[in-house]
Amino acid sequence: MALFKKRRSVADDRKIPDHIAIIMDGNGRWAKNRGLPRTAGHAAGSKKFKEIARYCNKIGVKYLTVYAFSTENWRRPKEEVDTIMNIFRDYLKDSTNFKKENIMLKFIGDRSGMPEDIAELMNKAEFDSKDATGLKVYMAINYGGRDELVHAVRDIVNEGISAKDINEDVISSHIYTKDYPDPELIIRPSGEYRLSNFLIWQAAYSEFWFSNVLWPDFTPDDLERAIDDFNMRNRRFGGV
Ligand code: FPP
Repeated sequence: MALFKKRRSVADDRKIPDHIAIIMDGNGRWAKNRGLPRTAGHAAGSKKFKEIARYCNKIGVKYLTVYAFSTENWRRPKEEVDTIMNIFRDYLKDSTNFKKENIMLKFIGDRSGMPEDIAELMNKAEFDSKDATGLKVYMAINYGGRDELVHAVRDIVNEGISAKDINEDVISSHIYTKDYPDPELIIRPSGEYRLSNFLIWQAAYSEFWFSNVLWPDFTPDDLERAIDDFNMRNRRFGGV
């Protein structure tokens, strides 16, 4: 009973993290468990992304970054990569996406490495949703944390910034996420306990939350559990 009361009181005045980041992992295993091709898992994962983004918007999360395709994912079989690209295409062509829900959509990652038509659709989706004032969704596509830092260093050098002027703020202002705060909470479902090259600079002080649930089975209740746990954490940022 006492425990129940404690959880309720956390829920009542809990803090919703401003920025939640999610590694949408486990699509392939979800499909395999059902005797379906891995590609069916990615279709289910894409649906789940929409559901969770809408829920984040509803409860007042300000920023949601999702890992949709990494710089390493190109190594997968061509058929699987092609299917994921088609899921992106279909998703981006659906111009009603999120618009009426006041959700902004942006992309982080190396757009120059994407098929040209998808890169154009990404630009258009960003333009179409730029005035939305609700949740800001940042989808990481052809994204790698190390690749991001390589691009940042190149830009810093090209801008002629001298070594003595380089500090953490200079680096933070040259990475893809320069316009928004670091994630307070990073969620990885599917029973894996690693960052896999996701937001490696930005994760310096993030809280991590892991779950065995495969991404297509992830529910708003799971997100609520992650937020409750986040509220129990004592964030000291190196202090005492
Ligand atoms: C990781 O699961 C998932 C991916 C590498 C692709 C994620 C893509 C989507 C969720 C579709 C995104 C589309 C939109 C519109 C957001 P996995 O394949 O590594 O699963 P496994 O670890 O079980 O093999």
